[in-house]
Amino acid sequence: MYNGGELPDSGAAPGELSLSLTDDLTEMRVSWATMDQVVENARVVLDAPCPAGGCTFAADTRTYSVLQKWWPTFNGSLHTAVITGLEPGARYTYRVGSDSPGPNTTAGEGAFSEPYSFASPVAAGAPTNVAVLADMGTVMPLGFAVAEKLAAVQDSLGVDTAMVVGDLAYAGIDTAFPRINVSKDDEFEWIWDLWQIQNQPVAATRPWMVGIGNHEAWYNWTAVTSRFHMPNGPTVGAVPPFWWSMDTGLAHFSHLCTEFDMNPGSPQLDWFAADLAAAASPAARAVTPWIVVTLHRPPYSSDQSWENLRADIEPLLAQHQVDLVVSGHMHAFERTHAVGANGASVVTPSRTDGKGNNVYDAPGFPVYITQGNSGAAQGESWQRPAPAWSAVRWANGWDSSPPRASASDAREEAPAAAPPSAGGPGPGPYEATYTDSFGFGLARFMNATHMSYESIPITGVFTDTFWIVKPISGAQ
Ligand SMILES: [Fe+2]
Repeated sequence: MYNGGELPDSGAAPGELSLSLTDDLTEMRVSWATMDQVVENARVVLDAPCPAGGCTFAADTRTYSVLQKWWPTFNGSLHTAVITGLEPGARYTYRVGSDSPGPNTTAGEGAFSEPYSFASPVAAGAPTNVAVLADMGTVMPLGFAVAEKLAAVQDSLGVDTAMVVGDLAYAGIDTAFPRINVSKDDEFEWIWDLWQIQNQPVAATRPWMVGIGNHEAWYNWTAVTSRFHMPNGPTVGAVPPFWWSMDTGLAHFSHLCTEFDMNPGSPQLDWFAADLAAAASPAARAVTPWIVVTLHRPPYSSDQSWENLRADIEPLLAQHQVDLVVSGHMHAFERTHAVGANGASVVTPSRTDGKGNNVYDAPGFPVYITQGNSGAAQGESWQRPAPAWSAVRWANGWDSSPPRASASDAREEAPAAAPPSAGGPGPGPYEATYTDSFGFGLARFMNATHMSYESIPITGVFTDTFWIVKPISGAQ
């Protein structure tokens, strides 16, 4: 399944392919890695028909270094090229490679990847589906399984773009293992490679956009800023991908970085205010009526909220009628009702659709999603009773919160916690009632008036779908 990117000793064989949007809908950025540092003439080659500029796009090549510990570090190189001149609505097939040989090339031949194909960036104002993940990781325990699920269903679901809202690879795990000489300040660069190999079936075939969480912070953000390039970031005050935005189809996404200051007067909040004002202008909203804000730590979670973030951004969210906010950090799924004013204003669904799913008609405040169930270990603790703004929440059946105030609490979809095992931390993984809730979200922007958001499990039974409907004017 995974072509290229073998570790180690793969020479110039390319792997870890990922695409990303730039700020130009006629472009697609292609990034990949090789384990050799010296790679000659690294490039992307398109199959014909090619854009007017030709079939070959030269790559920039660089590496990064972090402190060498007793374990191997990243010694390869990272390549990125921007394909230009794409026609709207077209599909392109490409390979990445160089003139340098890989382990399976014959003398005189360079190593190239298998061919992959992608569609041109979704045209402005067109319907689009965006898969949303957060807190993913690799094998701790199920990031790889979420990636595999997404890869398996991405075509049938019509996923155009994937977005990971921080805590990407968990190469730095913030846990010390003194007996094996590992401190909490250490990061394993191979985990980054593993994560990108795992995601390649998705990331090589559609834009793979990344946000920043606390687990990207190691060595002054070296790995994430070396490996990913996001669009429309500020040129002063930060380096993409800390905070950035994209227009894709009917939607504008603004990504904030909760690991950096966003108090009033901060460069990030100033950028956000300007970005939202532009996105909410009548001319912009006529094309991209839906505005989504992503940020790693949740302003609203009935596990743990960052209420300071509410104070920072809620005035702007209300002023510009942001529709949806997606976070992670809490390794769980939660949907709020439309909520504002530091929780004081709660707008519940006005009706249900024919399948019993909640519909928010022009709610006036954003609905908040915590989608931190995309792979990292779950062990969350809910507030009880649930706040009035909490609509749906579950955390893998591992629920260590106090007993429910009411057994008929309709907002609670996760099963009640089993009594803790004697001497153990809680219900064990072999409980018959233990139910998986790992997965990802899918935001569907259908037209100017209708969007839906669905939480899609990898094996479990917990799903949630809701709609936001608003007048044709675009603004709520
Ligand atoms: Fe986090």
